[in-house]
Amino acid sequence: MIPHLEDLGDVRGKTALVRTDFNVPMSGPDSARVITDDFRIRAALPTINWLTDRGAKVICASHLGRPKGVVNIKYSMAPIRERLAELAPGVELLENLRFDAGEESNDPAFVAQLINGVDLYINDAFGAAHRSHGSIVGPPKTLPSAAGRLLQREVEVLGEMRKNPKRPLIAVLGGAKISDKLGVIEALTSIVDAFVIGGGMCFTFLAAKGLPIGDSLCEKNQIDACKKLLAGNVPIHLPEDIVGLDADGNFATFGVRLPEHAKGLDIGPGSAAAFADIVMSARSVFWNGPMGMFEDDRFAAGTRTIAQAMSETKAFTVVGGGDSAAALAQFGYEKDVDHVSTGGGASLEFLELGDLPGLIALRGAPNVK
Ligand code: 3PG
Repeated sequence: MIPHLEDLGDVRGKTALVRTDFNVPMSGPDSARVITDDFRIRAALPTINWLTDRGAKVICASHLGRPKGVVNIKYSMAPIRERLAELAPGVELLENLRFDAGEESNDPAFVAQLINGVDLYINDAFGAAHRSHGSIVGPPKTLPSAAGRLLQREVEVLGEMRKNPKRPLIAVLGGAKISDKLGVIEALTSIVDAFVIGGGMCFTFLAAKGLPIGDSLCEKNQIDACKKLLAGNVPIHLPEDIVGLDADGNFATFGVRLPEHAKGLDIGPGSAAAFADIVMSARSVFWNGPMGMFEDDRFAAGTRTIAQAMSETKAFTVVGGGDSAAALAQFGYEKDVDHVSTGGGASLEFLELGDLPGLIALRGAPNVK
C-alpha cells in the first residue's frame, strides 16, 4: 500500500519535507533565467496547501536540470523560489538538490543532512519517482512518509490505463529518439491495441520498411528492432506524407519517400488527418512526444492536429509529460484532456513496469503497517 497524506496522522506543528519536481522549462541568460511554463509548480499546490492548511511547516526540495553535483547559477532555484512565494507564501524551497553529488548517488550522509530537523516526508515528485536518488528513496527509510496528491493521482490514472483501459487503447508516440522509447514500445505492445508513430523517431521505422528517408533523423542501430516491432501483432500506423525541407533548404511536402538530402520535420497533412481519425475513434489514448519540430511554426501542424484531436475525442485521454504537455499548452488544449502527466520518463517507465523506485520506497516507510 502506498501511504497517502491522511496516513501521516496529525501534521499540526510538524515540519514536512515535500519532494517536488520543479524541473520546469526555462529560458534567458544563465544569471537571469525565467520560467516559461510553471505547470509543475502549480501541480504541487494541492499537496502544499493540504499541509499548510493543517498547520504543518512545509519545506519543498527539487532538482532542476542536470548540474551533475556542481553548483551552477544556470540551475539555481531562485526564479522558482520567487514563483513559489507568489503561489504559496511562506513555503520554503531548498537549493537545487543536484548541486550535491550525494543526491544522485543516494549518499546516506546527504540524506541525513536533508532530513535533519524534518518530521515528515512527502513525495509529490512523480516526474522524478523513477530515479533512485537520495531525496526520492532515502527519507522514507526513517521518516513517516506519504505520496502527495499529484503522485497519488498519477499512479491512479496511469495504473488504470495500464491494467484496465477502455478499448481500443491507442498509444500516440513521437519525439526525436527511438532508442529512448524502444523499451516502452515493447512493453506497451502487450497493453495497447495500436500504435501511431510520428516525430523524428518515425524515420527509423520508415527506413526499416525500406523507404528512402533522405537526411532525416535515423538511428541505424535501431532499424532491426523497428523491423521486429513492425512484424509483431500490434498494428503500427506510420505517416504516409511528410513535411520538411528539400535539398535546397526550402519548405516542402513529400510523399512517404523522401528525395535525397531532403529532411522530414513533421508529419504531412494527410497523415495528421489519418492520425486524428484514429484518436477520435479510440476509447483511451496515451500521447507522448510531438509529431514534429513544433517549436518552428512551419513544422507545428502535425502536433497541433493531434493536440486538437486529443481535446475533441470522447476517449479517455492521457498526455505523458514533457514536450507533448508543452505542445498541448502552446495550442491551448491543456484543459481539454483527462490527465496531463507531469512525468515524461516517469510516466513511460510506470506504464512499462507498473512500479517506480519512489513508490517502492514509500511502501517501506515506518508509518506503513
Ligand atoms: C523530468 O523532467 O522528466 C524529470 O524532472 C526528471 O528529470 P531527469 O530526467 O533529469 O532525472
